[in-house]
Amino acid sequence: MESGLPLVRIDALSPLVPTLAGWAHDQWGHLHPGRSRAATIATFRADCGSSGVPSVFAAMDGERPVGMASLVADDMSDRCELTPWLASVFVLPEWRGRGIASALVRRVEQEAEDGGHELFYLYTPDQQSLYRRLGWEDVEEREYHGETVTIMRRDLSPRGLGPSVTARPV
Ligand SMILES: CC(C)(COP(=O)(O)OP(=O)(O)OC[C@H]1O[C@@H](n2cnc3c(N)ncnc32)[C@H](O)[C@@H]1OP(=O)(O)O)[C@@H](O)C(=O)NCCC(=O)NCCS
Repeated sequence: MESGLPLVRIDALSPLVPTLAGWAHDQWGHLHPGRSRAATIATFRADCGSSGVPSVFAAMDGERPVGMASLVADDMSDRCELTPWLASVFVLPEWRGRGIASALVRRVEQEAEDGGHELFYLYTPDQQSLYRRLGWEDVEEREYHGETVTIMRRDLSPRGLGPSVTARPV
């Protein structure tokens, strides 16, 4: 799977952290009522590890980030037994539909697999079809922060590695 854009690791000192964290704040801030933009940036920065869990990756158009995805230990406060999680999958609107999120998901999957994780998780209110296409399976539907979401699971063991996808060139 190839999106055509380089995917880079974002480290905690990267000047891109406020931009990426700002996307997360604008997109999912309602899930954390009362959390300021500065607090979101600090939390996001803490997820920018040097390998394994946690890690953040960005798709780059030159010097400009156009998408992101992360691998984190926890993403659902009452499901600590499930770990790790694919989280913060976001692509700028004008860059969507070109396979960038798919490539970022694959990059995060590789990071989880390299870390020895055979299973990892995500939840989504409305992007189930994207993840199913990438080989994820539905685990449970539930209410979370006032939304109906699906918890999904990816089996990274050799028996579970699923279909590959082809991205349109950007
Ligand atoms: C959801 C989101 C990340 C998808 O990003 P994206 O880069 O457009 O995703 P992709 O291009 O990899 O795939 C999206 C669609 O493009 C199409 N597509 C991608 N590559 C394709 C290809 N090579 N050929 C044909 N279609 C392709 C697919 O039809 C796919 O649709 P699907 O949902 O039916 O599977 C983006 O819309 C977004 O940031 N949304 C807001 C935040 C959000 O909802 N994040 C997910 C939280 S769980």
